[in-house]
Amino acid sequence: MTIVRAPLVFVMLFVAVSGCDEGPRNAQPAVEGNPQAGAAAIASYGCGTCHMIPGIPGADATAGPPLGNYARRVYVAGVLPNTPDDLVRWIRHPQEVDPRTAMPELGVTEEEARDIAAYLYTRTGGRW
Ligand code: HEC
Repeated sequence: MTIVRAPLVFVMLFVAVSGCDEGPRNAQPAVEGNPQAGAAAIASYGCGTCHMIPGIPGADATAGPPLGNYARRVYVAGVLPNTPDDLVRWIRHPQEVDPRTAMPELGVTEEEARDIAAYLYTRTGGRW
């Protein structure tokens, strides 16, 4: 029994430790995703060529809205409630949600979008 539980304890310990630096300070439900992987995905998709995103080097553009303190937003792009599922939906298929939006479909996978959402929800502040 102890052996079976060991991995779970390890995971819980990891979550507890990694949650120390940028813990969510808000009422958003936790999103299943890896914020570190999300930061990498944000960088590789070039989201920062259009958005200001705290913690992402070079992400200081103004074509799209700034994405700092995203957990405090009420709406996603003004059209969806700001829930994890709807944020993921927007990141994956902005053109389906709003055909007139300037944000392009970038081919983001479900897993990547969850990681990105986890990053945006847990990252606070803005350094610009
Ligand atoms: C070509 C420019 C461009 C790129 C690249 C881009 N976006 Fe956007 N994004 C926009 C624009 C413009 C909006 C505003 C859309 C609207 O309100 O219709 C937007 C809106 C958003 C919103 C909603 C913002 C709000 O105010 O609620 C999120 C979240 C978002 N983008 C995330 C991303 C992510 C994550 C990526 C990379 C995977 C990305 N964007 C790449 C242009 C871009």
